[in-house]
Amino acid sequence: MNIGVLGTGVVGQSLATKLTELGHTVTMGARRADNETARQWTESGHENARQGTFADAAALGELVVNCTAGAASLAALEAAGEENLSGKVLLDVANPLDFSRGMPPRLSVANTDSLGEQIQRRFPEARVVKALNTINHQVMVEPHRVPGGHDVFVCGNDEAAKSEVRELLESFGWPRDTIHDLGDLTAARATEGYLPLWLRLMGRLGTADFNIRVVR
Ligand SMILES: NC(=O)c1ccc[n+]([C@@H]2O[C@H](COP(=O)([O-])OP(=O)(O)OC[C@H]3O[C@@H](n4cnc5c(N)ncnc54)[C@H](OP(=O)(O)O)[C@@H]3O)[C@@H](O)[C@H]2O)c1
Repeated sequence: MNIGVLGTGVVGQSLATKLTELGHTVTMGARRADNETARQWTESGHENARQGTFADAAALGELVVNCTAGAASLAALEAAGEENLSGKVLLDVANPLDFSRGMPPRLSVANTDSLGEQIQRRFPEARVVKALNTINHQVMVEPHRVPGGHDVFVCGNDEAAKSEVRELLESFGWPRDTIHDLGDLTAARATEGYLPLWLRLMGRLGTADFNIRVVR
């Protein structure tokens, strides 16, 4: 499948690398077509690796992944182009972290709204699925880095889009019964709202290789 990965940070790099390893053709998008990080990524031996602008990546992708800084995601998606997102699954892994007042970051949107919902409202024809935002980028694509069973959440308004994302997560190594469908996109308020706890846990544990497990 052709996949557009919007973002050149560690998340974009981890997801783009995993996707190429799985045989997908990936275009990594950035503000500039000649982004240096994306260039290094395409030249580091990954087959089927391409680079371009956010618009190039979104246009070439049959599925698009938003791995941009939460504060900039709407601008990045605007640059990607509404027409390039229309009808496509838009996997949103971003978190609305606001670092403007120092550490720890605050959530720029919470309680009654979420970044996932803001994206869906702005791009109503995109099929937004929020997932993986509660997990470090390395664990996203290598769940076995954390021993034992642990869980990942998906939510979104389009059932078929969520099925596609669930299949993608299974291809990353997430067992089917660890992928929890939380329902419609308003659940992004909860998964994004988990970030302050995730950050606190990382500080206390001294590693990002951890996750939570839902036990009944
Ligand atoms: N780090 C993790 O393990 C982790 C885990 C879960 C979720 N997340 C979330 O995943 C997202 C990506 O995180 P990251 O650490 O990989 O990267 P990041 O540093 O948060 O974001 C980098 C990307 O944001 C774009 N960007 C920055 N400012 C912009 C602006 N003003 N306009 C348009 N685009 C802009 C950059 O574009 P250029 O390429 O053009 O510079 C780059 O592609 C974030 O929302 C983060 O909260 C991170």
